[in-house]
Amino acid sequence: MKIKFARPALPRRGTLVLLAEKGAKLAKLAHSADAASGDQLSRAMKSAGFEGKKDTFVDIPGVSGVGADRVLIVGIGEAGELTEKALEFLGGAIAGRLQAHKGTEAAIALESTSKLKISESDAAARLGSGISLRTYRFDPYKSKKNDAKDQAGGPQNLTILTADHLKARKSFEPLNAIAEGVHLARDLVNEPPNILHPEEFARRIKGLSKSGLKIEVLGEAQMNKLGMETLVAVGHGSERESKLAIMKWMGGPKSQKPVAFVGKGVTFDTGGISLKPGAGMGDMKGDMGGAACVTGLMHALAARKAKVNAIGIVGLVENMPDGRAQRPGDIVNSMSGQTIEVLNTDAEGRLVLADALWYTQKRFKPQFMVDLATLTGAILIALGKEHAGLFSNSDELSERISAAGHSTGETVWRMPLGAAYDKMIDSDFADMKNIGGREAGSTTAAQFLQRFVNDVPWVHLDVAGTAMGSKKNAINQSWGGGWGVRLLNQLVADHYEGK
Ligand code: BES
Ligand code: MN
Ligand code: ZN
Repeated sequence: MKIKFARPALPRRGTLVLLAEKGAKLAKLAHSADAASGDQLSRAMKSAGFEGKKDTFVDIPGVSGVGADRVLIVGIGEAGELTEKALEFLGGAIAGRLQAHKGTEAAIALESTSKLKISESDAAARLGSGISLRTYRFDPYKSKKNDAKDQAGGPQNLTILTADHLKARKSFEPLNAIAEGVHLARDLVNEPPNILHPEEFARRIKGLSKSGLKIEVLGEAQMNKLGMETLVAVGHGSERESKLAIMKWMGGPKSQKPVAFVGKGVTFDTGGISLKPGAGMGDMKGDMGGAACVTGLMHALAARKAKVNAIGIVGLVENMPDGRAQRPGDIVNSMSGQTIEVLNTDAEGRLVLADALWYTQKRFKPQFMVDLATLTGAILIALGKEHAGLFSNSDELSERISAAGHSTGETVWRMPLGAAYDKMIDSDFADMKNIGGREAGSTTAAQFLQRFVNDVPWVHLDVAGTAMGSKKNAINQSWGGGWGVRLLNQLVADHYEGK
């Protein structure tokens, strides 16, 4: 769908979307539309009992005199209370409504009688962002596109009518870059595991050099040389070569230490020799949701030319059972020098991240590291799909990410770490074991990661509940929701740009 910005004027065809504030108050263009239609709009609102409350709609097909042949009136409540997030969700909700319509053209008039919280052009851009996020679709494997039932995508041309349309178009550019990053992350999570294996994931990352990222990809030989036995051993059962991909965006001042994002990229998790049960195993194609987020985020930062130095690192492996696969009981060496007894080959994500985190802090000396991983089923039990679990050694970084969660709607909930939990992964035979027992499963996984971060400020986000099978809402209808791209982009924008 193409999103355009133009000066307010009654359109000649298609659907006209008008916003109404609490009390069913209409602004300028809406008033002239009402007058041109001979009061059809106000009569429809009255008979529908419409009061302009948020998330209420009046749909009026077959309007005459307006130019548009359909008018959709959308309640927005108190215009002065609309935050950036609320405007994105409003844009998404409108796009959802428009998808049910057959027309190819639609225009949304952004105007209000009371003062908005943010500038009207920013508000228009946020609407556009929400529309773009909502209308994402993933259908490369459907041989019949656009059948009658499947109208997702809505109108081909959507115009947002706003007084300073040039400024709105400018404000939309970075938001569009972020939406592209979200769409990329969604695509990666939705792709089937026979297509998106570690080699293909790395190939797609290389393609991002187009957006200005510097890309390096390490193969198994290079990783072995660096001593990353822990990561490489996870992929031993796979026909595909494991990879470590490094994305660099150096948009900040030369002297600025980089921020670093590290993602678990298990392109398929069978559990390995500790094989998972069959039911729902197909979902494990999404076990690279952390890596997808890091990739989408890096694209977004580059595409909007963020004034920050940022590193994205993803460990790409496939966890398969095979004659060469690692066994429960194996002891492996990590790049850090610490040894690990692998008691369950299904606790593989932490093994991938152990070497990836160590490598990241040694090579890049980052200001902080945030890792994202679909790490434990236990986090889904604890938090459902509402929040990602946050584990951290830094109150400051935790609070910044929590705040970014509130402003984007991608919320996190902090979980505990501590010495008593750490003891649960001590091993009789090696420096540590990769499982801690039934209790506090998400925390013992995080304790394991913490043994590879030293004192770098660090946040671990367990996204098992949010990155795949994502909650559907006004701005996301996709299984792979691209969770975390908007959150971490916000974190960077709020605290780390140009500093
Ligand atoms: N990828 C899974 C975690 C997961 C489960 C993600 C459900 C999304 C939905 C991870 O590799 C795993 O298998 N974790 C085990 C750890 C256990 C063996 C200690 C788990 O959570 O059961
Ligand atoms: Mn697993
Ligand atoms: Zn996994």
